[in-house]
Amino acid sequence: MQVNTVDVPDPGRGKPYIAIVAGNARQRSILARCLTSFYQFAEYPDVAQAVAGCRTHVPLLALVSEQLPPGGGFDLVRRFRLDPGLASIPIVVLAGKDDKVTRDGALQCGADSLLVEPFSRSALVTAVSGLLNRGVERKWKTLRPLQRQALSDTLLLFNGISNVISEGKPIPYQGVSDACQPLVEAVANDDFKEMLDGVKDHDNYSFAHSMRVATYLSLFGCNLRLPKEEQILLASGGLLHDIGKMSIPHQVLNKPGRLNEAERAVMEGHVTASVAYLEHCQDLPKGIITIAAQHHEKVDGTGYPRGLAGSKLNRLARIACIVDVFTALTDRRVYKPPIEAEAALKFMVDEMDSQLDAKLLGLFRQMLLDASGDIHRQMERSA
Ligand SMILES: [Fe+2]
Ligand SMILES: [Fe+2]
Repeated sequence: MQVNTVDVPDPGRGKPYIAIVAGNARQRSILARCLTSFYQFAEYPDVAQAVAGCRTHVPLLALVSEQLPPGGGFDLVRRFRLDPGLASIPIVVLAGKDDKVTRDGALQCGADSLLVEPFSRSALVTAVSGLLNRGVERKWKTLRPLQRQALSDTLLLFNGISNVISEGKPIPYQGVSDACQPLVEAVANDDFKEMLDGVKDHDNYSFAHSMRVATYLSLFGCNLRLPKEEQILLASGGLLHDIGKMSIPHQVLNKPGRLNEAERAVMEGHVTASVAYLEHCQDLPKGIITIAAQHHEKVDGTGYPRGLAGSKLNRLARIACIVDVFTALTDRRVYKPPIEAEAALKFMVDEMDSQLDAKLLGLFRQMLLDASGDIHRQMERSA
């Protein structure tokens, strides 16, 4: 079934999207433009089309204008809240004025958030992202304590890092390694699968990706029987490896299609930016900087930024490259669903054999097969 869209292309069945519901076509197109580099969306011009469209293909969130025919935006929110299939959709109401009647109206109809015009693009994006993450982070409460702690400690660290970077301050290694401790323990206890799933839907893609890279790196370290401190170093390297992406514009970072040459140069610049920042943090172990500096290098010399080949590539970097590719393939993005682990491994073996260290890729593949076998065995035992 198709999403009932107006003016914009169908975001595609099954792909997560945001519903923009407003009577005014110009308002819909302004909102769509504000969100276009972050999310897919569908536009609905009235209550009936919004209810029908959202029932057919449930959105991640709805932006609802107070100006909506026939009964207004508050009426639509009330209908959503009474409909079992739509009741849990987070809703931001967009209103023309900030007075008591509007605020009370938004609260009483069941909206989660109210934005009063004129609002900035960043206020809109912050409101949307905050609500999306609230749902994901609420689900973390159902996880086991160690998994929950690993997710919340690394998220806290990651959010803290973005503030520290914007102030030009260094990150102390102690803070990073403390945040990675529960993650490494969860991995050592074979208790990480739900944690990886739990972070997939997080709206901060950089956090979700870095957290998943950290987990797989730590799992690799655990399987290679490296000492605990080195597993923590690997996890820390995973969390920090793409830190330079924090300065890349969202339009480039989240662009669904192919990057043009200029955009590619900006994107590849994240490696140099990461290294410049990490080198300024004096107490970080060298291995962390190596992971950041070389995770896009390929053994055949086709990688970037330096085109290092063969023995010029540090072993840590070869491991990080495999983990980074696997994680990127299996990450969920707003414009693509995650690829299944088996398909991702097959692609890496079939299509990237000259670029990746074959021996390490074999070990990584075996490790994941064993891990999924363990999970199946655990499930059989508990059945
Ligand atoms: Fe990267
Ligand atoms: Fe990465």
